[in-house]
Amino acid sequence: MTGASRLTDLVSPTLLTGRAVFVTGGGSGINYAIADAFASVGANVAICGRTPEKLDAAAETLRRHGTRILAAPADVRDAEALDAAVDLAATEFGGLDTVVAGAAGNFYAPAESISPNGFRTVVDIDLLGSFHTARAAFDHLKVSHGSILFVSAGQAYLSFSHQAHVGAAKAGIENLMANLALEWGRHGIRSNSIVPGPIEGTEGMKRLAEPVGTDAWTAAVPLGRFGRAEEIAAMAVVLSSPLASYITGARVVVDGGLGLSGLGALSRTIAEAVTASRTEKEASKP
Ligand code: COA
Repeated sequence: MTGASRLTDLVSPTLLTGRAVFVTGGGSGINYAIADAFASVGANVAICGRTPEKLDAAAETLRRHGTRILAAPADVRDAEALDAAVDLAATEFGGLDTVVAGAAGNFYAPAESISPNGFRTVVDIDLLGSFHTARAAFDHLKVSHGSILFVSAGQAYLSFSHQAHVGAAKAGIENLMANLALEWGRHGIRSNSIVPGPIEGTEGMKRLAEPVGTDAWTAAVPLGRFGRAEEIAAMAVVLSSPLASYITGARVVVDGGLGLSGLGALSRTIAEAVTASRTEKEASKP
């Protein structure tokens, strides 16, 4: 998929007809695109977020697909509120097949000066929020033999300047994903994660690209471009569909190769030096 293709040109628009999906952070960005992709292939979708007005507007747009869409406000840090939102969706839709733990918070902050509350806030939203989501969905997924999908990040396994708080939270998510795959496999529940690369037009990338410029990011991506939210959403649909019925405990990296940058600046310097030396040799050939 190049990103230009619509998902429904590539897979059946009835791939997930009648399935029920719950997406945290579904009011905007990658998680909205995930909700949109699910609805486009027939799923009923509940989107969850902190701001009811934002959720209502997003839900209205999603309804163009003709499936049932529910705005279910809750802060993922509030386990009880999330339980209620998940139960509401399951009651409305008659069950739940997939839950997407996508809500996240991010900002750059040096490890030596981020406040304990700043660090805790990101861990609370990303890691605790993901655990609350999976836990709230467990009873429903046990019935449907459904799946959990975590939206993770390369910071989980790549050290990343000014992202110690995010790395800690995302590494926890990856570990949680694998543990739930192990523990809940016997209930027929699958658990996987997606690692998005830099995705254009998202709040997350606005926060991470603005201070350094988009070129610095693009230069670090072997495919040489930002990804599109639809490219993450397509993988979310595949991983939650019967196409992935034997996939669990998998971390699926959808990052244009960003995670391959290895020693980062050093790799770039080596590439530039080798290219310069080859060009010099070519130029000196008689
Ligand atoms: N640098 C350092 N610390 C920061 C910060 C920044 N840019 N932004 C917030 N913090 C700290 C605050 O100072 C506070 O700590 P303190 O009490 O010690 O001062 C703590 O984080 C909580 O901040 P607050 O604004 O009260 O939290 P919130 O719950 O209202 O918002 C955030 C959560 C901070 C993650 C906010 O950025 C947010 O809502 N993000 C959602 C959208 C988003 O990040 N999208 C990208 C996803 S990849």
